[in-house]
Amino acid sequence: MFCLVYKSIASLAFRKIEIAEMLEKARDFNAKNDITGCLIYYKGEFLQYLEGNQIKVLELFDRIKSDNRHHTVELVSYGKIDTREFEDWSMAYEDFLGDNDTLQFLKLLVASYFESPDEAMEPNPTSEYFWRTAKRLLKSGELKKF
Ligand SMILES: Cc1cc2nc3c(=O)[nH]c(=O)nc-3n(C[C@H](O)[C@H](O)[C@H](O)COP(=O)(O)O)c2cc1C
Repeated sequence: MFCLVYKSIASLAFRKIEIAEMLEKARDFNAKNDITGCLIYYKGEFLQYLEGNQIKVLELFDRIKSDNRHHTVELVSYGKIDTREFEDWSMAYEDFLGDNDTLQFLKLLVASYFESPDEAMEPNPTSEYFWRTAKRLLKSGELKKF
């Protein structure tokens, strides 16, 4: 099992409705290919965590990199993992547009990472703990799933 995290900048024309359409297709593809993960959208930037078979994840990442709905795709981290973090989700999604109190913690982590990655507080998105926290918040049911 393999996981990969990247970040990118959304193209201006890529807005909420397009994100919803993209997610529908992505979830269908991911479910068929046993890929799970989480996509976070924050102030025009994406952060995505993908997990699954190494070859399948790398093939998908190649396609994602050439998608013109975002640009400046940067690999943040990758590696082998023993178990999945998002076994129940073909692609969990959170956009931080709303102002939900339960999200403050995660928002803080994401903000510190995007705004000054080198000094980002721990856990930052390169760590498993960050994604575990994201999962817990999403699972708490207080967040609407997109
Ligand atoms: C931020 C972002 C995240 C994406 N995540 C996925 C994903 O998890 N799974 C997926 O199949 N496609 C995802 N896509 C869409 C792919 O980039 C691509 O459009 C899709 O795999 C279809 O590829 P094709 O047009 O080469 O057939 C994502 C696109 C963007 C912009």
